[in-house]
Formats: sequence, structure tokens, C-alpha cells
Amino acid sequence: MVSHTVPLEGEFSLSDLPGGAGRLDVACRAANDAFLVSHGIRKEVALHLVVGDQITISLWGLRLRRLNPDERSTGALFREALRAGRDLPVGEERPSTPGITVRRIGLAGLLDDLRTAGSAPVVLDEGGDPLRTEPIPEQPAFILSDHQNFTPAEHTLLAGLPRVSVGPRVLQGHQCITLVHNELDLREAG
Ligand SMILES: C[S@@+](CC[C@H](N)C(=O)[O-])C[C@H]1O[C@@H](n2cnc3c(N)ncnc32)[C@H](O)[C@@H]1O
Repeated sequence: MVSHTVPLEGEFSLSDLPGGAGRLDVACRAANDAFLVSHGIRKEVALHLVVGDQITISLWGLRLRRLNPDERSTGALFREALRAGRDLPVGEERPSTPGITVRRIGLAGLLDDLRTAGSAPVVLDEGGDPLRTEPIPEQPAFILSDHQNFTPAEHTLLAGLPRVSVGPRVLQGHQCITLVHNELDLREAG
């Protein structure tokens, strides 16, 4: 998820996620829907939040701890990661809380890393091809924006990638994540 308005320094109150935290509530819902199932988490999932095209916070399902359903505690995990990322040299990675790392890379660096790790980026776009009938790569990395549109620079980076739609309506990001999981779950179950 590409996040455009979250303050990079992590200086905000957890009581004001939609305001002073620059709509961090959007990312919190994305994290919760990316990982949480009834009484557990999806261990095979990773979520990368690109903040201000400078910092990427990665949540790794295999090692992730302390992710709870309430947005405030998820906001605290993101805030801790942002603070851990202060003064981080370009390209370097630092651990934050268990299962969360922070790197000083933007969207271009993340796309490079995903490809190096064998993932195939797929853009979530309401105008794309229908997810229900599209072939999905073995190890897909779905790219979506927060409450704002992708910037022109982001559009340029994402040009030429496959685009899939979960339906004709423009939905909230976390809703798209749930629908993608549902489609992948159904395919896995045959
Ligand atoms: C809330 S939308 C972004 C803001 C939106 N472009 C607007 O009109 O203000 C968040 C993201 O969810 C994804 N998205 C929303 N609806 C979708 C759909 N029907 N199919 C696929 N992706 C969708 C897109 O990646 C979008 O950038």
C-alpha cells in the first residue's frame, strides 16, 4: 500500500489516526484485513507500507506479533516502525517490533526488491481486468493506494504492470484486500 500523508517522523497521537496521523487509520485497516482471520493471522502474507516514497514498513506474517483487531494498537506498531526508521541510511533495513522491519526505500526500491524476491507486482485498479477471471501469478504482490490516487510519478513506475479490478465500484483499500484474499482462498480451495 502506498501511503501519501502519514507523517514520516512518527510524531502524532494515537488518539488522532485519521487527523494528525495523516489517515494512518487507512493503513491500520489494511494491515488488519491483510493478516487477521478468526483467531489467528495469515502467516503467508507480507504487507509493505510505502510512506512518503521514502520509508517502507514491512509486516511479515511468519514472524508478526502484537497485531490486534483494534486500529489504535496497529497504529502504535506503525508509529514505532516510523520512529525506528528515523536517520536510517538509504537502502538500509532496521527491525522494529517482532515481525516488522523498516527500510529507507520508496516505491521504486520496493518494486525492485519484490521482483528480486520472486514476486510479481499486480496493480489493484477499478478499471483493470476482472480479478475473478484473470490468471494470478504464483507469488503475487498487489499494489494499491491509500485514500488518495496514485501520484503521476507512481503511475509512471506502475505503467505496464498487469491491472486487476475487484469490481466496478471504487472501494476502500482494506475492502479490496479482503476481496483479493477471498478470491485466492477460493482458488486454493478449488
Ligand atoms: C480508496 S481507493 C483510492 C482513492 C480513489 N482513487 C478515489 O477515487 O478517491 C484505494 C485504492 O483501492 C484500490 N481500489 C479501489 N477500488 C478498487 C476496485 N474496484 N478494484 C481494484 N482496486 C480498487 C485502488 O488501488 C485504489 O488506489
